[in-house]
Amino acid sequence: MQTFHTVSGLRDALMTARRAGQRIGFVPTMGNLHAGHIALIEQARESCDVVVCSIFVNALQFGLNEDWDKYPRTFQADSAKLVAAGCDYLFNPEDIEMYPNGLDTQSRVICPTMTDVLCGASRPGHFEGVTTVVTKLFNIVQPDVAIFGIKDYQQLAVIRRMSEDLCMAVEIVGAPIHREADGLAMSSRNSYITAAERPLVTVLHNTLLEIAAALEAGEKNFSSLEERGIAAISAAGFKPDYLSISNSKTLEPAAHDDTELTVLGAMFTSAARLIDNTSVVLV
Ligand code: PAJ
Repeated sequence: MQTFHTVSGLRDALMTARRAGQRIGFVPTMGNLHAGHIALIEQARESCDVVVCSIFVNALQFGLNEDWDKYPRTFQADSAKLVAAGCDYLFNPEDIEMYPNGLDTQSRVICPTMTDVLCGASRPGHFEGVTTVVTKLFNIVQPDVAIFGIKDYQQLAVIRRMSEDLCMAVEIVGAPIHREADGLAMSSRNSYITAAERPLVTVLHNTLLEIAAALEAGEKNFSSLEERGIAAISAAGFKPDYLSISNSKTLEPAAHDDTELTVLGAMFTSAARLIDNTSVVLV
């Protein structure tokens, strides 16, 4: 695997691959890689000639009181995992390389409405930071395909919408959620969960599964299901952020005749904010 810290270095390397007609697959990350990230690399490996991964802890998508400075940075271990997974190129730029004009005057990409709800409601500006950096990364890598985890369901939906709206020549692929044995969705932020909280945090996934089962059984009182879910999370000792039965494509609150639904939830532990989701297709 070759590692690049500059835009021009990576571009030169990819130019050769592109001229040779090779299919380029791209997996953007913020590092601290776990099995969920590595599965994205493996998925890219299966369908592409060249696999590119980026590791960049993007300050633009972190709120002022969020964890940008303490976000786990584990470059050496990440690098070894990427080599083992068959990644070809790793892009690991410094902030100055990605934002040479500074953050304040950086041009932005805005995906309206869809980013105001769910995670966007509690993290103002977050998705603007994501869409902006992902656009920059797409422009740098110019991949044929980019793979994102369904774990961050809203992020995936927003990126799909952005790429459709802005006619980006990249295929956006969603990859399944990787979980711990007890169902907790893998996340770099799981390291913030305390030992005492760890057995209890499965309440989020379990609650989403219960709601999904009720929807599949024909339950249509969405607000009552959401209220019961919120109560279950509170009863386990966590502060719910949101719990929503949404239209899988638009992320608007589900309508009674919608057939593709996604149940999304977020909750706070003492030091982390955890998110999860599960989708159902009603027949
Ligand atoms: P990060 O949180 O590092 O996640 C990188 C990719 O890994 C995302 O597509 C995310 O959805 C996926 N991922 C994380 N945990 C996963 C799991 N348990 N199962 C499957 N996929 C999982 O998401 C970001 O970084 C950033 O917002 C980024 C897109 C890189 C822009 O800065």
